[in-house]
Amino acid sequence: GFVQEVAAPLAASYSQLGLASQIGVALASFIAISVVIHVLKQFLFVNPNEPPMVFSWFPVIGSTITYGMDPPKFFKEQQAKFGDCFSFILLGKKMTVYVGPKGNDFILNGKIRDVCAEDIYTVLTTPVFGKDVVYDCPNSKLMEQKKFMKVALTTEAFRQYVPIIADEVNSYFKRTPDFKGQSGTVNICPKMAQITIFTASHSLQGKVIRDKFDETLADLYHDLDMGFSPANFMLHWAPLPWNNRRDYAQKTVAKIYMDTIKQRRDAGETDAQDIMFHLMKATYKNGVPVPDHEIAHMMIALLMAGQHSSSSTSAWIMLRLASRPDIMEDLYQEQIKALGADLPPLKYEDLAKLPLNQAIVKETLRLHAPIHSIMRAVKQPMPVPGTKYVIPTDHVLMAAPGVSASDEQYFPQPDLWEPHRWEPDHPLTPSIVRNGEDETTETIDYGYGLVSKGTASPYLPFGAGRHRCIGEHFANVQLQTITATIVRQFKFRNVDGSDKVIGTDYASLFSRPLEPANIYWEKRN
Ligand code: HEM
Repeated sequence: GFVQEVAAPLAASYSQLGLASQIGVALASFIAISVVIHVLKQFLFVNPNEPPMVFSWFPVIGSTITYGMDPPKFFKEQQAKFGDCFSFILLGKKMTVYVGPKGNDFILNGKIRDVCAEDIYTVLTTPVFGKDVVYDCPNSKLMEQKKFMKVALTTEAFRQYVPIIADEVNSYFKRTPDFKGQSGTVNICPKMAQITIFTASHSLQGKVIRDKFDETLADLYHDLDMGFSPANFMLHWAPLPWNNRRDYAQKTVAKIYMDTIKQRRDAGETDAQDIMFHLMKATYKNGVPVPDHEIAHMMIALLMAGQHSSSSTSAWIMLRLASRPDIMEDLYQEQIKALGADLPPLKYEDLAKLPLNQAIVKETLRLHAPIHSIMRAVKQPMPVPGTKYVIPTDHVLMAAPGVSASDEQYFPQPDLWEPHRWEPDHPLTPSIVRNGEDETTETIDYGYGLVSKGTASPYLPFGAGRHRCIGEHFANVQLQTITATIVRQFKFRNVDGSDKVIGTDYASLFSRPLEPANIYWEKRN
């Protein structure tokens, strides 16, 4: 029978193979069998109460590679197949994506007993920021910390920040060798990263800390950054060279801030406006003053949170302007008309007189939101309203507001970067502007001041809910000031004169332009 004719000869020839080949055959069979089981399971055990699962050939790997190469493309392809809610496997974990305004609302405005950010993010952020802040504490404490950090992000503060930012930009172009002469080409990304860190540190953290970025702090922050590589979701604990450098940098930067706090306290300062000074005076609801190490760790968190998102966005703005020199000219003319032909030094109040300059930031964030995936752990089974799905606690929820921000349903010709569409009567004006929906949304207070719920908005580059960005206004002030200052000095275009725009690098947590992203620059006078 079977044993004599098939199995016995197979066993005989198997035993004649060398050990290495035997291991090879065993491994290949193991993989083949797991693939077969994995594929069969997907057809045989479909749970009608869970969202549809994206098909994959290999267990554990699942859709990791297709997702990781281009998350927005992956989301859109699956949305076309399954609708707004679907699941996929990312490194062995079941992720449930829910896109569109309803999905954004379901995840970002989720109740605290249902969804949890810190369970996901803490492994990455705590070694970088330090203990007892942001995701290394209960959510109620984070809400208080966000309230403290927001105090320094007021109109009063922004009035001081605009001249500081403009001066940093001007001085950067004066002293940087890459911008000597009348024209040239440059990879704009590292330049915008530097401009972002100089402007953010000077305005938010003061001149003393800013000056340390010319020396020690730049390298230390770079080492902190390496802690944010996606590989660290699994390897955060490992004694690898980059993790050792991360830990050394965290201790050193925290000490620099704590020493500064101590000096300021000893000097008896009374009238400063910066964030550190506000935090030094802050007290938790339970009466405990914010400890120095927490102030230091919040300073790191603030700078890191702003750095990646703003430097990526400012690089995209410059690349988009290089692809549309006509818009860069419109921006220049807008300033001449609104502020006068002599272009006096930029003030905070001027920014409101430059609607196109504002729209540049808005439109760039619509197509290039630096945070493409927002994750939450599921704390108890969550029924999805209007469906029969219940998301189980072993899934991770993933929101992707960028999907609705580039959906034709909400933004006509969605892939076209057209800042003029944010004017009320342009052919491409989105309905949220036409109907005034982006101004009149419902607001809510999670403990750090009123924020718009964004419940029905297809455009949420700054998130929504209790984890919503507190840096939005600062980022707008910073990006608009940088853009307006650069427009006064330069004309940009693509090196080949085309209107092409470089692709996106999704290899790190925050997406950014692929490099080198060279542009041609020319000074105005
Ligand atoms: C949270 C985007 C700039 C500080 C967030 C979130 C998004 C976001 C999408 C929500 C994350 C989540 O729900 O998990 C952006 C973009 C920026 C920007 C697109 C610039 C273009 C900044 C700046 C600062 C900042 C400049 C600091 C000054 C924060 C903080 C949170 C946050 C503290 C709260 C995190 C939490 O509550 O869990 N940001 N951000 N951001 N952002 Fe920003």
